[in-house]
Amino acid sequence: MERVSAIKELRQQVTAWRLAGKRIALVPTMGNLHVGHLELVRQARQRADRVVVSIFVNPMQFGAGEDFDHYPRTQEQDATQLERAEADLLFTPPVQEIYPRGQTVQTLITVPGISNILCGVLRPGHFAGVATVVCKLLNMVQPDLALFGNKDLQQLLVIRQMVEDLCVPVEIIGIPTVREPDGLACSSRNGYLTAEERSQAPALYRLLSETSKAIAQGRSDYAALESEGKQSLTAAGFKPDYYSIRNAVDLSEANGETQKLAILAAACLGRTRLIDNLLVERE
Ligand code: PAJ
Repeated sequence: MERVSAIKELRQQVTAWRLAGKRIALVPTMGNLHVGHLELVRQARQRADRVVVSIFVNPMQFGAGEDFDHYPRTQEQDATQLERAEADLLFTPPVQEIYPRGQTVQTLITVPGISNILCGVLRPGHFAGVATVVCKLLNMVQPDLALFGNKDLQQLLVIRQMVEDLCVPVEIIGIPTVREPDGLACSSRNGYLTAEERSQAPALYRLLSETSKAIAQGRSDYAALESEGKQSLTAAGFKPDYYSIRNAVDLSEANGETQKLAILAAACLGRTRLIDNLLVERE
């Protein structure tokens, strides 16, 4: 596996691959890799000839008072895991390489509508930070495909919308959420949980599963299901931000006609904010 931190070197390598007719996949990450990230790399391997993984803790997507400074940075461990997963190139740019003129004067990509609901309400500017850095990474690598996790469903849909609106020539692929054996979605932020919080955390997935089952059994009183979900999260020790049943395609409000549904939840356990979602298809 090659390791580069300059855009120029990255471009040289991917250009050579492209000229040789190779199909290139990009897996953008913020590092502290877990089995969820490695699943994206595995799926990228299956679909492309060359796999580029980026690790960049993007300051632009963190709000004031969020965990940018404390976000786990484990680059050497990550590189070892990526070698084993047979990634071809690891791109680890410093902040200066991505935002050379400074973040405040950086051209911003804002995806309207979908960026301003759910997590976007609670984290203003977050999705503009994500869309901007992902757009830059797509322009640097110019991959044939880029892979993202369904775990961050709203992020995936923001990126899909950005790529469609800006005619970026790339295929965006969403990969099912990888979970711990007890159902908790793998996340770099799980490491923040205390032992007690870690034992409470799987309740989030359990409640989403219960709601999913209720919908599969025919319930369509979504407002009631949402408030039951929120109450159950509180009873399980969480401070819920939202518990919401939406149209899985664009996250608009679901109604009795909506076929592809997403049940999305965000909640704090102590100081750690967890998000998860389940996709449900109605007959
Ligand atoms: P990060 O949180 O490191 O996640 C990188 C990718 O891994 C994202 O596409 C995310 O959805 C996916 N992922 C995380 N946990 C997963 C799981 N349990 N199962 C499957 N996929 C999972 O998301 C980001 O970084 C950043 O916002 C980024 C897109 C890199 C832009 O900075």
